Amino acid sequence: MNLWESRWQEDRIGFHLKEVNPYLMRFSDQLLHQNPDRVFVPLCGKTLDLCWLTTKTKKVIGVELVSKAVQDFFAENNIDYLIQQDETLQKFSSKSIDIYLGDFFDLNPEQTSSFKAIYDRASIVAIEKPERREYVDHLISFLDPAGRILLITLEYNQNQMEGPPYSVPAEEIESLFAPLGSLKLLETCDILDDRFRNKGLTRLLEHVFLIVKN
Ligand SMILES: C[S@@+](CC[C@H](N)C(=O)[O-])C[C@H]1O[C@@H](n2cnc3c(N)ncnc32)[C@H](O)[C@@H]1O
Repeated sequence: MNLWESRWQEDRIGFHLKEVNPYLMRFSDQLLHQNPDRVFVPLCGKTLDLCWLTTKTKKVIGVELVSKAVQDFFAENNIDYLIQQDETLQKFSSKSIDIYLGDFFDLNPEQTSSFKAIYDRASIVAIEKPERREYVDHLISFLDPAGRILLITLEYNQNQMEGPPYSVPAEEIESLFAPLGSLKLLETCDILDDRFRNKGLTRLLEHVFLIVKN
């Protein structure tokens, strides 16, 4: 069983929010500036943000590695779905939300078409440092010209905690995405709480970036 599979099986999913992400609600106008009819959510887990995004756009498309996460998402939100085999991944399809079950790196933009809007919350921080360049290159292969990414990352002293979530500091985001276009830091907030204090952290910053492809 891989790390994510065991986290989901053992219900160690502290990253899962019981409400819609407040940054998404606050900054959705910037992400959805071009009124896209589809939004892509990589490494989506069972986030309620998928449901909220359907109030703003026609179709939301996620990809998630772990079957339990995908099945729980549809069951907990009472959404009927069909399962289809789509090349390398299974596709759970519903009226407004499709989730590809499998490894993000096995999904390609020919399967989904490209997007004007991508929402990455706690997704890049799930990727180990050596794979991050490949993750970003793969992510941006799904992005249309002038497309936008709303990205929420975490920054802390990586010597204090092993991760995931990994620390992906603001400077690393800037260097990973700078070749793509413009980056704007929309918000930084110190979110250190007992959960992370007990893991040894003395500081935990959350950064929200808007990235616009040139
Ligand atoms: C930290 S969680 C964040 C989930 C979601 N974005 C949220 O805000 O709740 C990262 C998720 O990515 C999934 N994941 C990890 N590696 C993946 C991969 N290579 N392809 C697809 N999903 C992956 C994990 O199973 C987990 O559900």
